[in-house]
Amino acid sequence: MSKTDEWGGRLGIILAVTGSAVGLGNFLRFPGLAAKYGGGTFMIPYFIAFLLLGLPVAYAEWALARYGGQHGYHSAPGIFRVLWKNKAAPYLGVLGLIVPVGIYMYYVFIEAWCLYYAWGFLAGALNLGQDVTLYKGFFENFTGASANGTLFLGMSPAVISLLVCYFLNFFFVYNGISGIERISRWGMPLLLLIAVLVLVRVLTLGTPNPNFPERNVLNGLGHLWNPPQQGIFTSLANAQLWMDAAGQIFFSLSVGFGVIINYASYLNRKVDIVRSATTSAAGNEFAEVALGGLITVPAAFVFLGAAGIGSTFALGFVSLPAVFAHMPLGQFFGALWFFLLFIAAITSSVSMIQPGIAFLEEGLHLKRKYSSALLLVITLLGSLFVVYYSAGLEALDTMDFWAGTFFIFLLALLQVIVAGWIFGVDKVIEEAKHGAHMRIPKVLPFLIKYVSPTFLGIVFVFWCIQKLPEQWAKLETNPVTQISLFFLLGVLVFFLILTHFAVLNWKKRDARKVAQ
Ligand code: ALA
Repeated sequence: MSKTDEWGGRLGIILAVTGSAVGLGNFLRFPGLAAKYGGGTFMIPYFIAFLLLGLPVAYAEWALARYGGQHGYHSAPGIFRVLWKNKAAPYLGVLGLIVPVGIYMYYVFIEAWCLYYAWGFLAGALNLGQDVTLYKGFFENFTGASANGTLFLGMSPAVISLLVCYFLNFFFVYNGISGIERISRWGMPLLLLIAVLVLVRVLTLGTPNPNFPERNVLNGLGHLWNPPQQGIFTSLANAQLWMDAAGQIFFSLSVGFGVIINYASYLNRKVDIVRSATTSAAGNEFAEVALGGLITVPAAFVFLGAAGIGSTFALGFVSLPAVFAHMPLGQFFGALWFFLLFIAAITSSVSMIQPGIAFLEEGLHLKRKYSSALLLVITLLGSLFVVYYSAGLEALDTMDFWAGTFFIFLLALLQVIVAGWIFGVDKVIEEAKHGAHMRIPKVLPFLIKYVSPTFLGIVFVFWCIQKLPEQWAKLETNPVTQISLFFLLGVLVFFLILTHFAVLNWKKRDARKVAQ
């Protein structure tokens, strides 16, 4: 194991996993979803999914990963091969590569928007006045919404920003675990500091426009958090709500993401993984509910009213920039806010690169520079593909549907089944107990074995029944959706082929060991 392949300390891994978890999902996706369902209603399935899915799958993932690491593997295909003596296991483990790689391809593009918006506020390019439509026009122009390929006509700011983000991401990951640890160690405290500053600014806005006395901070908070006066049970009967809540939990915690299975594999058995898993999950929930949930929607509400809030991207890149224009010191707070989003995004995106690099190194024996270069080419192709098909953000949406939801559900399901039924829940608990000072909840084995797979299975089946026909109809009529899915499947097949070569290498290694 080289010196770049170990965490510097217990705090390092906690900050890195929390850095991976706290991202755009916390500050954009979560408030968007909560506002969509009327926050109070959303929080019920959200917390149930956190307790019955997110946490148990996270504990299992940490334990499986460390076990795999102790047996010399750090990539999902390798670790699955250790956990499950079945020929198919390493190939199923490819899910742990396609999820982070597929998500990275479009996530880094949104990260680039945040970086440019931070710069735009600082330099004044985003001082467009208070009219929301101006920001809408800016956003559409900036993201090339009018037609495919427009962002490649000359060097557009979005593409330049994307290339800067690429450079930064690969720069940090090139130094391995220690590079990731470094960015997390300064990024997370800075993120917290900025978030608290922006939060204080938002919570002290009062009633900024006397012409609209009902648009005040309290009502803004109420708009997000109060459950509906009536019909809460009807709302809870909506399967879509449960699926979105479960999807958000996985996306946000970076569980079933291929990240923790890699990160925790570098830990030794002295580390308390129960405490580490709990601390990072709690940190993520704090950032999501107490910071993400209290900033965006109330801020948009007090200046633009309930109708002006908008869905995830409209909220983040149209409503909020207009909100900053209304706010005293808005230029400063706008720059701070988008810089916060950028930090949240980059500490997450580096975590999506590392699993692929680890796989290329241990499976194909590539040196760091070649593994990084190969992954750079693959992901850059994907990102440029997303950038090219910019009209209506179709390619981005398709990737988000398959990599950011479908494959995550599959990977989480696979992991919890392997943990509960194949590797064995007793062995998972035994692994988790090594080095643990924190008590493992007595109910955890039951949750891992029965509750989580059943709950996840039901949610996933409902999700497929509801969502796949819609996506299928889109696939039949929309060529961009077809090409995007085709592209993603191409990457999947590519990794399957590489896994085949990796398995051959691992078999040779096993044979050498037996011969010794
Ligand atoms: N967990 C990361 C986020 O929430 C990917 O954005």
